[in-house]
Amino acid sequence: MSNPWLAVPLSDYEQHMSSVEVQQLGALSDLFAEAIGRCRPVSIAVLGIAGGNGLDHIDTSITARVVGLDLNPLYLEAVRKRYSHLPGLELQCVDLAEQHAQLEPVQFVHAALIFEHAGAGSCFENAISMIVPGGNLSVVLQLPTESGQTVGASQFSSIQNLKSHFSVISPAWLRESLAVRGFRLIHETRHALPAGKGFWMGLFSAPEAHHRK
Ligand SMILES: C[S@@+](CC[C@H](N)C(=O)[O-])C[C@H]1O[C@@H](n2cnc3c(N)ncnc32)[C@H](O)[C@@H]1O
Repeated sequence: MSNPWLAVPLSDYEQHMSSVEVQQLGALSDLFAEAIGRCRPVSIAVLGIAGGNGLDHIDTSITARVVGLDLNPLYLEAVRKRYSHLPGLELQCVDLAEQHAQLEPVQFVHAALIFEHAGAGSCFENAISMIVPGGNLSVVLQLPTESGQTVGASQFSSIQNLKSHFSVISPAWLRESLAVRGFRLIHETRHALPAGKGFWMGLFSAPEAHHRK
C-alpha cells in the first residue's frame, strides 16, 4: 500500500496545519526557532521537512548546510523553490521508515512530528546515525489528549487518511531510548494547542562517540 503522505497535496497539509482549530504550523516553526537558537548549529538535517516550515529562522551567518529529507518529492520541490537562497541546501527523497539515509553527518537533527508518522524504528535509527559525535537532536512529539484524538478533524479528506498511520510516541519512551544510547536531555519545553492538544520538545546532546548502526 502506498504511503498516505504521497496523496496529500502540500497546500492541503499547510492549510490544515495553520487552521484556527489546529494552529500547529506556527507552533512547529517557533519550536524549530527555539531549538536552533539554543544550539546554533553549523549544519542541520530536518526529517520530514514538508514545505520547509521554520527554515526562515535559519541564521545563514551561523548555518552553512541544511539537509531536508521527506518521502514526498513534491514537498521537496516546493522547499527547493521557496528556499533556493539558503546556502548548502541539500534535499533527499527518502522513506525514513524503510531506507537508510546516506548523508554526511550534521551537527543538529530536527525530528518534529515525524516518528508519529514514520514509526520509531528505522526512522529513529536514521535520526541517530546522522548526528556528529557531540551534536544535538531535537524531537517534537504530540502529547496524548484525553479524548484520544490524534490527527484533528479536517475539511481535507487527504488529511483524514493520515489517521490510520499515526501512533502516539511518549516523551518518556523517547528519553529512555536515547538515554541508553548515551544522549543527554539538555532542555525540554511544552506548547499548548487548541482542542486540549500539546507539543513536547526535547533537546538532547549526543555522546562524544556514539554507536552507529
Ligand atoms: C507532520 S509533517 C512534519 C512537520 C514538520 N517537520 C514541521 O516541523 O512543520 C510529517 C512530514 O513527514 C513526512 N513523512 C511521513 N512519513 C515519512 C517517511 N516514512 N519518510 C520520510 N518522510 C516522511 C511527510 O511527508 C511530511 O512532510
